[in-house]
Amino acid sequence: MKVKKPKYIMMNKPKDWVFSDPRLQEMKQDYAAYREEDFEVWRILFERQIVNLPNAASKAYLKGIKGIDFTSDKIADFEDVNRRLADSTGWEIQVVPGLIDDDLFFGLMNNKRFCSSTWLRKMEQLDYLEEPDMFHDAFAHMPMLTNQHYVDFLENLSGLALKHIDNKWAVELLSRIYWFTIEFGLIREEGEIKIYGAGILSSAGETKYSLSDQPTHHEYDVKRILNTPYWKDKFQDKYFIIDSYEQLFESLTEIESVLEEMVAEEAGK
Ligand SMILES: [Fe+2]
Repeated sequence: MKVKKPKYIMMNKPKDWVFSDPRLQEMKQDYAAYREEDFEVWRILFERQIVNLPNAASKAYLKGIKGIDFTSDKIADFEDVNRRLADSTGWEIQVVPGLIDDDLFFGLMNNKRFCSSTWLRKMEQLDYLEEPDMFHDAFAHMPMLTNQHYVDFLENLSGLALKHIDNKWAVELLSRIYWFTIEFGLIREEGEIKIYGAGILSSAGETKYSLSDQPTHHEYDVKRILNTPYWKDKFQDKYFIIDSYEQLFESLTEIESVLEEMVAEEAGK
């Protein structure tokens, strides 16, 4: 089913230099190369986490994972994902060799391409990984790409990052927004707190922890997030709760103005 696209004024036009950038190699998912161990790793991670999600994940995620048709017995097939995304938000999966430069990362997303790796962790790495693998990229991120407000936020946040790409401080600030929303965001649905952040959705431990009373929970607050550094090697001590994905999209104007103030302040020091 085709989702009706909201009429938004896009703040930043897509930058098509991305497609001719030499760093963007012709990379594809080689599905035939997955071995039995890969299928087993996908199955274990999928089954272990999917049971935690009906009561913990946001509705958009649960609807998305159904719509995108991920199952435990089949490693995500990106051709299939792209066909399904084409029918919903028009986004596509772009295979990348792992972590890529910020300008290319944001450039791709500003062109409705979500970056994903194709390798899966090994059996002995089930619980800890230094770099996200495709279980994280696919299972946790891709279902959310079926939500129009969410992807519009992502596209325009990336446009804003590109506008400031030569300013390290600005990119760091925008990474905080990305971190506390796309990776570690929570949403309030019918009075209950649910998860939409991919960093949480791909971790059984953090799923439980993020909704417990161990960390602190805060209302979504652009200024506060921009002033909050984050860490990558342990669970967050705070999470921010949005009320809707529309709110996320609409906050772009505030993100842009607070960011510009903070960048100007830093430059004046
Ligand atoms: Fe991620």
